[in-house]
Amino acid sequence: MSGVSDAPFRKIAHDNGAGLVISEMVASEELVRARPDMLRRAVGADQLKPFAIQLAGREPRWMGEGARVAADLGADIIDINMGCPARQVTGGWSGSALMREPDLALSLIEATVAASPVPVTLKMRLGWDDTSLNAAAIAQRAEQAGIQMITVHGRTRCQFYKGRANWRAIREVVNAVSVPVVANGDAESAGDVGTMLQESNAAAVMIGRAAYGRPWLPGVLAQKLEAGTGCEEPGIEREAELFSLHHQSILSLYGHEHGNRIARKHIGWTISRLAGRGFVTIESANNHRRMLLSANDNAVVSKGLKALFAEACSMGNAA
Ligand SMILES: Cc1cc2nc3c(=O)[nH]c(=O)nc-3n(C[C@H](O)[C@H](O)[C@H](O)COP(=O)(O)O)c2cc1C
Repeated sequence: MSGVSDAPFRKIAHDNGAGLVISEMVASEELVRARPDMLRRAVGADQLKPFAIQLAGREPRWMGEGARVAADLGADIIDINMGCPARQVTGGWSGSALMREPDLALSLIEATVAASPVPVTLKMRLGWDDTSLNAAAIAQRAEQAGIQMITVHGRTRCQFYKGRANWRAIREVVNAVSVPVVANGDAESAGDVGTMLQESNAAAVMIGRAAYGRPWLPGVLAQKLEAGTGCEEPGIEREAELFSLHHQSILSLYGHEHGNRIARKHIGWTISRLAGRGFVTIESANNHRRMLLSANDNAVVSKGLKALFAEACSMGNAA
């Protein structure tokens, strides 16, 4: 997820049992041109195995060159983005707009597969809108072109994130291809994952927004479904340690000023989750939020985070 699952987030997800972590979408041409923000999206391959770098683009040449660069950076898998609904992406005929242009999509896939020394996978939606549900047809052509795994978000592009993901509709893609299909959209709990697997008959699930404020969630869900894999939900003391680690790695990746701003959304999600589980009162959560989301001095933020978790731990121990 662009702006969320950066290298610090992925490291925690990976170390806590996620089966596969994928980079934020990386613009292929800008990666080849070594634009610093795109290189930063691709870092961490040396520490994460397996690790996929996701490429977006609309020109076969850049997708092919981007795949080579991504593999040189250590990607074990190249994933092609054909699901992003954002207007600035679809306006440039990439992301989910490619589902309206299957021939162009295929030429991008072919160029990427031909250039990539590692397996290439594809992420898509059900189609552009309800009148053009062409995921299964594209998936078949993609498989023939060498795509080795397909992730389907059970919404159309025109739904953006509205309504509920249609897990049953993903089954049509599963039935159309023999490569593994990963179901995606709205899974939050082990119960959801079970239902999603049953309705879609997919080989695996992808977790996105449910991991906001808890990058360990994919590993925890894996553990619940298949004991012996992944990890248990961390206790509050362990969560404090993980968040401190997360915060420090954000600061070292982005630098102190930019990192301070990047950390805020993760801090906000963490406070909301602590309040939601009764580890801090609503009033106290509001005070912490006011302070932590406006402080520019990272020493003050670190101290505030310690105070937040000390309060949560004492509430947790008292309960
Ligand atoms: C903030 C945000 C950023 C996203 N960025 C990407 C991206 O870079 N690449 C991608 O394939 N999907 C991206 N997605 C889509 C998610 O991967 C996923 O398909 C979607 O959120 C539905 O799954 P979920 O309900 O588990 O979140 C993004 C979603 C959100 C909310």
